[in-house]
Amino acid sequence: MCPRGRTSCIRRVLPPGSNPYAAANASRLLWVRRFVRNNYGSAHDPSELETTQTIQLSTKCRSWRKIIYKIPQTGTSKYQPVGMPMTMFETRLDVTNYSGEAPASAAVRVHHNKANTRGVGVKEVAKDLSGIAPVIPIDRLDTLPLHCQICEGFRAAILRGNLQPGQQVPSSRHLAEDLEVSRFPVLDAYAQLLSEGYFESRVGSGTFVSASLPGQVPNGRRSRSTTGGSRCLSRRSSLLPRFETVPWRHGWGPFGVHQSALDQFPFRAWSKLLAEHGRRPRLHAIHHNDPMGLDRFRDAICSYLRTARAVECDPSQIMIVSGSQQALEITARVLLDPGDPVWIEEPGYQLAQSVLLGAGCRIVPVPVDDEGIDVSAGVNLLPKARAVFVTPSHQYPLGVTMSASRRLRLLDWARDNGAWVVEDDYDSAYRYDTTSVPSLQGIDSDARVIYIGTFSRVIFPSVRVSYIVIPPDLIERFTAVRFSLGIFPSYLFQEVLTDFICTGQFARHIRRMRALYKERRTALVDSVQNTCRDMLEIHGAGAGMHLAVTLPSGFNDAEIASQAAKYGLCLWPLSPCYMNKPRHGFVLGFAATPADQMAVAVHQLWRLLKKQPSQS
Ligand SMILES: Cc1ncc(COP(=O)(O)O)c(C=O)c1O
Repeated sequence: MCPRGRTSCIRRVLPPGSNPYAAANASRLLWVRRFVRNNYGSAHDPSELETTQTIQLSTKCRSWRKIIYKIPQTGTSKYQPVGMPMTMFETRLDVTNYSGEAPASAAVRVHHNKANTRGVGVKEVAKDLSGIAPVIPIDRLDTLPLHCQICEGFRAAILRGNLQPGQQVPSSRHLAEDLEVSRFPVLDAYAQLLSEGYFESRVGSGTFVSASLPGQVPNGRRSRSTTGGSRCLSRRSSLLPRFETVPWRHGWGPFGVHQSALDQFPFRAWSKLLAEHGRRPRLHAIHHNDPMGLDRFRDAICSYLRTARAVECDPSQIMIVSGSQQALEITARVLLDPGDPVWIEEPGYQLAQSVLLGAGCRIVPVPVDDEGIDVSAGVNLLPKARAVFVTPSHQYPLGVTMSASRRLRLLDWARDNGAWVVEDDYDSAYRYDTTSVPSLQGIDSDARVIYIGTFSRVIFPSVRVSYIVIPPDLIERFTAVRFSLGIFPSYLFQEVLTDFICTGQFARHIRRMRALYKERRTALVDSVQNTCRDMLEIHGAGAGMHLAVTLPSGFNDAEIASQAAKYGLCLWPLSPCYMNKPRHGFVLGFAATPADQMAVAVHQLWRLLKKQPSQS
């Protein structure tokens, strides 16, 4: 574990005349082994790296802010990322590919700007809470003297883990003010706790909870006991699938589906806007504001959608929400009742399924073919569905673009059956081989489409800003539901995004990323075709930030994905996207992996596939 600000430097210089490739390998292995042991103590078997060109580091390295490679022969250094906090997720170091040469030796220095384990993080926060008084119950009618009550209060808080070892406690003066008692009982209590070893004082710094405590509960908090009475949960919550921490959802590495090229994001411009709006907020806007969102932001989104997506709308129809999940949750509450049948794409977006399941809807999986959702199949399964959820621009996960005839057929079906169409247009900004396809909403003549868009793909997911385009006659109901769920959206990113759009930086960023992602997409397709043609069939590579590949029968995608996580590959299995009979394969994100590293990543995937029992 590296304390804050520590720099570790590991260097290995190889003897002259040694084979640079072998040397580089030897150097890398030693380096990884030592690095892991020195800093993280995590299991990472170096033998797994033997023949690979790329070093995948444990995802625990997420808290890095700056990684520096030095290549002694050329005297050059590579800074990655260059002081950009958002790119601290970078965990991939490819020493041999640097400047096209395999180095005879390499040195790496890692600056830990931030502690990387939960425990240390908690302690650091705890230290910064010195100005906050802990909860010390004081009863003036109690016969127990005040200083004893204060002692008791601190002991209990420490033993429960509410105060952490090393955490600074308030000064006696501040605590006396907060408790509204004189300073004497507080001084007496502090002296007592110091003598008992609960506190320690550091000259010039203050008083702290002791780092080694008498009778401390290991790992802090004691679990709460229950009374044994009924602990019934809602039926609605039990309808949701189990929440599982799967490696591919939280990992970072080649093929991660929701990962964009964060190192290419214009953080300098972005942070200027953030600072500007943080420093000088519009005062009437930072109080409660419109449940629909800020007017100027909705104007900007409206102009973008009319231009880029041919969405038929005016700003009054646009509602700002916190992510597509919330958009769908609000939509479901307005349009659907428990038990209502809803068509969803099969395979489809699992998180949409879970919102609809949570709303108590009856889900009808309708197969997707190479024209998008198969409307005739849906009609055969259940013609009277109340709604359909679709991703027509780039079907998730298969990547199909819905054909024009299928779009018209779907809208006709919706009109004839009084059904709603929910269009999730999550990554339409990126299209590579054909011109942009207009939204479904734009060709709907009966105001039946609820359009959902997001900034998660083009900006980054944690911005949590999405929007709904609502048919005019439903605006009031949507507003009422939105108000009941979250009152109104958060302020700051709305302002920042408005300026980002209006100053042309949004359009510029999309243009740059479209070219970059196209190159990465092509590298992925070529590598898969060159290396794994016999095992992987590619689907839907024409748009977005991912494509899908399917496996021959006998392979288990989730099993392979779990194994891949150990090599730093972030493979998303395809089978969980199916509700009925699953196909096995992967959803492969390509946006965050440089084109010159794609072949290496695909080679690792190929090696993994070759190791599977179905291949022996
Ligand atoms: C199908 C689909 N819809 C929507 C989203 C965006 O979700 P959110 O806006 O909640 O980040 C994603 C992920 O980026 C997605 O894959």
